[in-house]
Amino acid sequence: MKAAIIHEFGPPEVLKHEDVADPTPKPNHAVIKVLACGINRYDLFLRMGGVKAQTSLPHVMGADVVGEIIQIDGDGSGHKVGDRVIVAPGFPIDPADWNHKPENFAPSYTVTGTTLWGGYAQCMSVPTRFLLADKTNLPADECATLPLVLVTAMHSVKTLGEVKPGQHVLIQAGASGSGSMCIQVAKTLGAKVATTVGDDSKIEVAAQCGADLVINRHKENFREKVLEWTDGKGVDMVIDNVGGGILKDNLTSMRRGGILVNFGLVGGVKDEINFALMIFNQYQFRGSMMGSMDELREGLELVRAGKIKPVLDRTFPLSEAAQAHQYIEERKVKGNVVLQPWP
Ligand SMILES: NC(=O)c1ccc[n+]([C@@H]2O[C@H](COP(=O)([O-])OP(=O)(O)OC[C@H]3O[C@@H](n4cnc5c(N)ncnc54)[C@H](OP(=O)(O)O)[C@@H]3O)[C@@H](O)[C@H]2O)c1
Repeated sequence: MKAAIIHEFGPPEVLKHEDVADPTPKPNHAVIKVLACGINRYDLFLRMGGVKAQTSLPHVMGADVVGEIIQIDGDGSGHKVGDRVIVAPGFPIDPADWNHKPENFAPSYTVTGTTLWGGYAQCMSVPTRFLLADKTNLPADECATLPLVLVTAMHSVKTLGEVKPGQHVLIQAGASGSGSMCIQVAKTLGAKVATTVGDDSKIEVAAQCGADLVINRHKENFREKVLEWTDGKGVDMVIDNVGGGILKDNLTSMRRGGILVNFGLVGGVKDEINFALMIFNQYQFRGSMMGSMDELREGLELVRAGKIKPVLDRTFPLSEAAQAHQYIEERKVKGNVVLQPWP
C-alpha cells in the first residue's frame, strides 16, 4: 500500500509518499481501508519531533480516520467486514489499559498515529473496540475533520469548562480546527461566544460556527473587547488553544472564579504565572487532553442531529501530504484539512 511516511523528524518535506507493507490484523484488531484522514496541528508537532520519545522511525502518523473494515480478528466488538467506521482519535495502546475509563486518563493513552501507525496510508490496523460505527451520513472527507477536534471540544468546553446556558465564553483562534469546533459545542450548550482570529478573511468562518463576537487579534486588544462585551464583568470560561504569550490576558478576561481550559501550545509551551492574580481572583486553570469514547459518542450524536457541522477547508491527495502540512503551517487553513489516500 501507499503511505506518507517519515524517516526523520523535520520540515514538511520529510513526509515521503512510498510503498510500505500492508497491515495484517493483530489479535482483536481490524484492518481499515482509509477513505479519508484529517490532519491536525498535532501532526506538525509530531513531525518536528515534539513527541519523539513515543514515536520510533520510520513512522506513519494520522489520528482522524474514516474508513471501511476489510479484515477482522476476533469477535469484531460489534463491527463486521464492510462497515464504515470512525477510528477513535486517541486510545490506550497497551491492551492492559483497554478497560480504563475515561480512556484519556489511561497510562498508555496516546493520540492515534503517535506510537502505532496511523491513517496517512491506504490502510491501517486498529483495535476493534476503538472503532465507532459511522452514522453521520457525511462524505468521508467531511467526517474525517471531526473526531479529534470534536472529542477535544466536548471534553474541554463541556466537561472541564462546565459551560452553562447564558454564560459568556472566550474561545481563542476561532477559525482553527479546534476553535471552530469549540465554538459550535459552546453554542449547543447555550453560551454566548467571543472568539479571536488572526486575519479578517477568517472572520466569516468563525461567525458561521456561531460566534457572537469575532475579534481580529492583530487589530484589537481581545481582553479590552471582551471586557467591553461583558459590561466589565469578564467571561465565565476561556478556551486557550494557543498557549504561550497570552496567559495573563486570558486570565484577566475572566470574572472571579473563571475557568481557563488550556489544550494548545501553538504560541509556545511556556508562560509566566502570577500566583497573586490566581489566588485573589480564584481563577481555575485546567489542562485538557483529548477526551473519552463517551464524549466522542455524545459529540457524534450532535453531528447526526445537525447541531454540529464539519468545517472542511480543502482536501489533498496523500501524495501531497507535505504540501498539506505546509498549508497548515502557514496558518492559511480555515477549519480543517484532509488527506485522501485512494485515487
Ligand atoms: N490537548 C488536546 O487535546 C488538543 C486537541 C486539539 C488540538 N490541540 C492543540 O491545539 C492547538 C491548535 O490546534 P488546531 O488543530 O486548532 O490548529 P490549527 O487549525 O492549525 O490553528 C492554529 C491557529 O492558531 C492561531 N494562532 C494564534 N496565535 C498563534 C501563535 N502565536 N502562533 C501560531 N498560531 C497562532 C492561528 O490562527 P489565527 O491566524 O486565526 O489567529 C492558527 O491558524 C495546537 O497546539 C494543537 O496541538 C490540543
